[in-house]
Amino acid sequence: MATEYDESIILFGASGDLAKRKLYPSLFKLFLRGNLKNHFAIIGVSRTNWSDSEYQKIIKDILIRNENIINNKLFKFDLLDEFVKHCSYCPLDLTNHHNYINLKRKIQSKEKVFNIPSKRIFYLSIAPNLFSTVSNYLKSEQLLSNTGQNKLVIEKPFGTDYKSATHLNDQLNEVFNENEIYRIDHYLGKEMVHNIQAVRFSNTIIESLWNNHYIDNIQITLSEKIGIENRANYYDKAGALRDMVQSHILQIAAQLAMDQPVTFSDEDIRVEKVKALHALRIYKDYEVNKYFVRGQYAANNGCKAYRDEKNIPANSNTNTFVAGKLLFDNNRWLGVPFYIRTGKRLNDKFTRIDVTFKKPLIDLFNFTSNNYTHQNFLNPNILTIFVEPKYGFSLTLNTMTVKQEMNMKLSPINLNFYQDTITSNKFPDAYERLIHDILKGDQTNFASWKEISYSWKFIDVIQKYWDKKEPIFPNYIPGSMGPASADELLKQDNRKWVYRIN
Ligand code: BG6
Repeated sequence: MATEYDESIILFGASGDLAKRKLYPSLFKLFLRGNLKNHFAIIGVSRTNWSDSEYQKIIKDILIRNENIINNKLFKFDLLDEFVKHCSYCPLDLTNHHNYINLKRKIQSKEKVFNIPSKRIFYLSIAPNLFSTVSNYLKSEQLLSNTGQNKLVIEKPFGTDYKSATHLNDQLNEVFNENEIYRIDHYLGKEMVHNIQAVRFSNTIIESLWNNHYIDNIQITLSEKIGIENRANYYDKAGALRDMVQSHILQIAAQLAMDQPVTFSDEDIRVEKVKALHALRIYKDYEVNKYFVRGQYAANNGCKAYRDEKNIPANSNTNTFVAGKLLFDNNRWLGVPFYIRTGKRLNDKFTRIDVTFKKPLIDLFNFTSNNYTHQNFLNPNILTIFVEPKYGFSLTLNTMTVKQEMNMKLSPINLNFYQDTITSNKFPDAYERLIHDILKGDQTNFASWKEISYSWKFIDVIQKYWDKKEPIFPNYIPGSMGPASADELLKQDNRKWVYRIN
C-alpha cells in the first residue's frame, strides 16, 4: 500500500522543458502509484498567460504523448482527468512582487478545495539568477506556510563557483533552513547510483576490499553522444567541468569514497559524504595541468564543431570534455587515483564505474617447472558498475583455461549480471524517485550545502587556472572518447582506461 502524501507543489518554470520532459510525467506516475491521491495540488507558475483549463490540457497532451506513461500498467485514460483536476496555473512575472498575492490566493484556495494541511513544496525549475529573488518574495509576500511545512527544491546549477554558491546559499538561508532545501542532482535518483551504497555496505566481499590495500584505481565515465543541443547560452558559460564534474561526478565519487554511515538515515549518509569530499585533495594551480585535461569537439561526419554550434562564439574556449584524477587524502584511499571523464559528442551514451583491483603481490603463474615455462599475464580483477543505459555489474576474474596444452594457462572470465529490460523498465525514473523523496522529507539523495561547498572549492582551482590559459581547441573528434591527452593522463601513471574504443 503506497503512502499518500498531502502537499501543494508549486512549480516555478511550469512551461519549461524540464517540467514537460520530466516533472509532469514523474508527478503523474506518483499519482498512479497512489503517493499523490486526494489531498494534493500542483500549481504551475510561469510567465505564459494560460488559464487553468489550458494548463490542464497541456499537461494531458504531454502525458498522452509519453510512451512510458501509456505503457504503464496502472495507466487508464480516466485517471488523466482525475490527475489534472489537481493541476492549476498562475501566470507570474517572478521579478514583480505585486504579482505574488495572486499565487498566494491560489495556493490557499487549492489547499481548501483538496483539504491539504498547508504543506508547501516550492519547486524552482527556473533560471538560476532568479533563485534568490523568488525565495525572498516567498517570504516577503508571505507565501510560506506558517503552520505546516515548507520545502524549497532547487535545480542545478547551484552557483557558478564557490563565491556565488555561498552567496546564493546565504540568500536562501534567509528564508529556508538547510533541512528545508532540496538541491537536485538527478544522478542521485538513478537506480544504479543508489545501488553503489547497497552493494558496498551489504556485501562483506566488496566492502572488506574497498580500500587502498586492494584497489588500484577507480574510473568514472559519464559519456554523452549528443552535443549541446539548444542550450548554448547556459553551456557556453558552464562547460563540462561545471556542468557535470562539480555535480554528478563528484557526487558519484563521494558515494564510492565515503565510509560506512552509522545508520542509513539521510543525516548519517550526508555526514560520510561530506567527510569524503573534505578529504578530496584540492590542487594547487601549478598542479592542474598534471591532473586535469580538457577538450572541445571538432567537426566530424555531419556533426558541427562546438564553435560552429548555434549561438556559440567562434572563439569559444569552453570545455566540452574533461578528464582528471581525484585523490582522497585519507587512510582508506591514500594513493588510489579516481580517474574521471565526461564529455559531449563522444563515442556513445553511457555511464559506468570501473573499479580495478590490485594484482596479487606474488605472481605464481609465471614459472618454469620440469623445463616447461608457464607464461601468464595476470589481468587485474575489475568490478564494473553499469549505471546506464544497461543496469548491472560485471566482475573479471582470472581462471584456468580449459587445458588444451600441457602448460598452465590463465585467462580472464567475466561474471555478469544485467537487469533484464522488463525489470529495468519498472525502475522509477530519477525524477520520480527524487520527488517521492521530497514528499517523504528524505534528504539522502540531495546534495547538502557542505557537499556543494567542498565541490566548488575543488572545481574553482581548475576553472580559474584554465581561464588564464589559452587551450588548443578543438582537440577531439565526435565519436571518439575525447582528446589524446585523456589517455596520456593515465599513461603517465602506467594505466589505461578500462573502457576504450581502440
Ligand atoms: C545534466 C547536464 O545535468 O545532465 C547535461 O546539464 C547532461 O549537460 C545531463 O546532458 C546528462 O544527464 P543524463 O541523465 O542524460 O545522463
